[in-house]
Amino acid sequence: MHTVILYSSSNRFGNTYQSASQLAAELNAPMIYVDEFEINDYCYQHSHADDDFRALFRRVLEFDHIVFASPVYWYAITPKLKAFFDRITDFMDDENLQPELRKLREKHFSILSTSIYDQAPEAFTAMLLRTCQYLGMAFKQQYHFKYDV
Ligand SMILES: Cc1cc2nc3c(=O)[nH]c(=O)nc-3n(C[C@H](O)[C@H](O)[C@H](O)COP(=O)(O)O)c2cc1C
Repeated sequence: MHTVILYSSSNRFGNTYQSASQLAAELNAPMIYVDEFEINDYCYQHSHADDDFRALFRRVLEFDHIVFASPVYWYAITPKLKAFFDRITDFMDDENLQPELRKLREKHFSILSTSIYDQAPEAFTAMLLRTCQYLGMAFKQQYHFKYDV
Protein backbone atom coordinates (compact mmCIF):
# COMPACT_ATOMS: atom_id res chain seq x y z
CA MET A 1 0.00 0.00 0.00
CA HIS A 2 1.38 3.36 -1.08
CA THR A 3 1.24 5.60 2.01
CA VAL A 4 1.73 9.32 2.56
CA ILE A 5 1.86 11.08 5.92
CA LEU A 6 0.24 14.49 5.87
CA TYR A 7 1.35 16.23 9.01
CA SER A 8 0.68 19.57 10.60
CA SER A 9 2.02 21.30 13.69
CA SER A 10 2.92 24.78 14.87
CA ASN A 11 6.32 23.27 15.61
CA ARG A 12 7.68 21.92 12.34
CA PHE A 13 10.23 19.66 14.02
CA GLY A 14 8.34 19.11 17.29
CA ASN A 15 6.60 16.08 18.79
CA THR A 16 4.30 15.37 15.89
CA TYR A 17 7.23 15.49 13.49
CA GLN A 18 9.13 13.01 15.70
CA SER A 19 6.25 10.55 15.82
CA ALA A 20 5.36 10.97 12.17
CA SER A 21 9.01 10.40 11.21
CA GLN A 22 9.09 7.08 13.10
CA LEU A 23 5.97 5.92 11.32
CA ALA A 24 7.28 7.19 7.98
CA ALA A 25 10.39 5.04 8.44
CA GLU A 26 8.28 1.96 9.33
CA LEU A 27 5.91 2.41 6.40
CA ASN A 28 8.50 3.73 3.99
CA ALA A 29 6.22 6.68 3.42
CA PRO A 30 6.97 10.28 2.42
CA MET A 31 5.92 13.07 4.76
CA ILE A 32 4.25 16.27 3.67
CA TYR A 33 4.28 19.26 6.03
CA VAL A 34 0.91 20.89 5.41
CA ASP A 35 1.81 24.16 7.12
CA GLU A 36 4.35 25.10 4.50
CA PHE A 37 1.61 25.37 1.89
CA GLU A 38 -0.66 28.30 1.34
CA ILE A 39 -4.09 26.89 2.17
CA ASN A 40 -6.64 29.59 2.74
CA ASP A 41 -9.88 29.04 4.58
CA TYR A 42 -12.86 27.78 2.63
CA CYS A 43 -14.66 30.53 0.74
CA TYR A 44 -18.13 30.14 -0.80
CA GLN A 45 -16.98 32.20 -3.80
CA HIS A 46 -13.88 30.00 -4.20
CA SER A 47 -11.77 33.10 -4.29
CA HIS A 48 -8.66 31.14 -3.27
CA ALA A 49 -8.84 28.59 -6.08
CA ASP A 50 -5.26 29.44 -7.08
CA ASP A 51 -3.56 28.89 -3.76
CA ASP A 52 -1.67 25.65 -3.02
CA PHE A 53 -4.63 23.55 -1.89
CA ARG A 54 -5.78 22.00 -5.13
CA ALA A 55 -2.30 20.92 -6.22
CA LEU A 56 -1.59 19.50 -2.77
CA PHE A 57 -4.89 17.60 -2.72
CA ARG A 58 -4.13 16.13 -6.15
CA ARG A 59 -0.70 15.06 -4.92
CA VAL A 60 -2.29 13.31 -1.93
CA LEU A 61 -4.73 11.53 -4.26
CA GLU A 62 -1.78 9.73 -5.83
CA PHE A 63 -1.49 7.58 -2.67
CA ASP A 64 -3.71 4.70 -1.47
CA HIS A 65 -3.32 5.35 2.23
CA ILE A 66 -3.23 8.77 3.87
CA VAL A 67 -2.09 9.23 7.45
CA PHE A 68 -3.42 12.49 8.91
CA ALA A 69 -1.01 13.53 11.65
CA SER A 70 -1.63 16.36 14.09
CA PRO A 71 -0.97 17.34 17.68
CA VAL A 72 -4.01 17.73 19.90
CA TYR A 73 -4.51 21.48 20.29
CA TRP A 74 -7.51 22.08 22.56
CA TYR A 75 -9.24 18.81 21.66
CA ALA A 76 -8.84 19.51 17.95
CA ILE A 77 -6.54 19.17 14.96
CA THR A 78 -4.43 22.15 13.91
CA PRO A 79 -6.14 25.02 12.08
CA LYS A 80 -4.06 24.27 8.99
CA LEU A 81 -5.14 20.66 8.79
CA LYS A 82 -8.73 21.77 9.38
CA ALA A 83 -8.38 24.23 6.50
CA PHE A 84 -7.18 21.32 4.36
CA PHE A 85 -10.36 19.37 5.18
CA ASP A 86 -12.60 22.40 4.73
CA ARG A 87 -11.12 23.08 1.33
CA ILE A 88 -11.98 19.56 0.14
CA THR A 89 -15.43 21.16 -0.13
CA ASP A 90 -14.11 23.01 -3.22
CA PHE A 91 -14.13 19.65 -4.96
CA MET A 92 -17.75 19.02 -3.95
CA ASP A 93 -19.00 22.40 -5.11
CA ASP A 94 -17.74 22.16 -8.68
CA GLU A 95 -19.09 19.31 -10.76
CA ASN A 96 -15.95 19.39 -12.91
CA LEU A 97 -13.89 18.58 -9.81
CA GLN A 98 -16.24 15.93 -8.39
CA PRO A 99 -14.67 12.99 -10.27
CA GLU A 100 -11.39 13.73 -8.47
CA LEU A 101 -13.16 13.91 -5.13
CA ARG A 102 -14.71 10.49 -5.72
CA LYS A 103 -11.20 8.99 -5.81
CA LEU A 104 -11.26 9.29 -2.02
CA ARG A 105 -13.70 6.36 -2.00
CA GLU A 106 -10.79 4.11 -2.99
CA LYS A 107 -8.50 5.39 -0.22
CA HIS A 108 -7.63 4.24 3.26
CA PHE A 109 -6.80 6.64 6.05
CA SER A 110 -5.14 6.51 9.45
CA ILE A 111 -4.86 9.00 12.28
CA LEU A 112 -1.69 9.95 14.11
CA SER A 113 -1.97 12.22 17.12
CA THR A 114 0.33 13.48 19.84
CA SER A 115 -0.68 14.96 23.16
CA ILE A 116 0.17 15.04 26.84
CA TYR A 117 -2.32 12.24 27.63
CA ASP A 118 -2.42 8.52 26.91
CA GLN A 119 -5.16 8.81 24.33
CA ALA A 120 -6.46 11.33 21.83
CA PRO A 121 -9.68 13.02 23.00
CA GLU A 122 -12.88 11.61 21.55
CA ALA A 123 -13.71 14.94 19.85
CA PHE A 124 -10.38 14.95 18.03
CA THR A 125 -10.76 11.40 16.75
CA ALA A 126 -14.46 11.74 15.94
CA MET A 127 -13.93 14.75 13.70
CA LEU A 128 -11.35 12.93 11.60
CA LEU A 129 -13.17 9.59 11.54
CA ARG A 130 -16.54 11.05 10.62
CA THR A 131 -15.20 13.44 8.00
CA CYS A 132 -13.09 10.80 6.26
CA GLN A 133 -15.86 8.22 6.43
CA TYR A 134 -18.32 10.77 5.03
CA LEU A 135 -15.92 11.20 2.13
CA GLY A 136 -15.98 7.44 1.56
CA MET A 137 -12.55 6.58 2.91
CA ALA A 138 -11.88 3.36 4.82
CA PHE A 139 -10.35 3.58 8.29
CA LYS A 140 -7.13 1.65 8.80
CA GLN A 141 -5.42 2.53 12.05
CA GLN A 142 -5.06 5.01 14.88
CA TYR A 143 -1.65 5.89 16.29
CA HIS A 144 -1.27 7.99 19.41
CA PHE A 145 1.94 9.16 21.07
CA LYS A 146 2.09 10.69 24.50
CA TYR A 147 4.67 13.36 25.28
CA ASP A 148 5.42 14.67 28.72
CA VAL A 149 5.03 18.39 29.25
C1 LIG B 1 -2.17 25.38 21.77
C2 LIG B 1 -1.98 24.04 22.42
C3 LIG B 1 -3.09 23.34 22.84
C4 LIG B 1 -2.96 22.08 23.41
N1 LIG B 1 -4.07 21.40 23.80
C5 LIG B 1 -3.96 20.13 24.29
C6 LIG B 1 -5.13 19.38 24.63
O1 LIG B 1 -6.25 19.84 24.52
N2 LIG B 1 -4.94 18.12 25.11
C7 LIG B 1 -3.68 17.58 25.25
O2 LIG B 1 -3.58 16.41 25.68
N3 LIG B 1 -2.56 18.25 24.93
C8 LIG B 1 -2.67 19.52 24.45
N4 LIG B 1 -1.55 20.22 24.09
C9 LIG B 1 -0.24 19.55 24.14
C10 LIG B 1 0.16 19.02 22.77
O3 LIG B 1 -0.86 18.21 22.20
C11 LIG B 1 1.42 18.16 22.83
O4 LIG B 1 2.45 18.83 23.50
C12 LIG B 1 1.85 17.79 21.41
O5 LIG B 1 2.68 16.66 21.45
C13 LIG B 1 2.55 18.95 20.73
O6 LIG B 1 2.98 18.56 19.45
P1 LIG B 1 3.88 19.51 18.52
O7 LIG B 1 5.26 19.54 19.14
O8 LIG B 1 3.88 18.87 17.17
O9 LIG B 1 3.22 20.84 18.55
C14 LIG B 1 -1.66 21.49 23.55
C15 LIG B 1 -0.55 22.22 23.14
C16 LIG B 1 -0.69 23.48 22.58
C17 LIG B 1 0.53 24.24 22.12
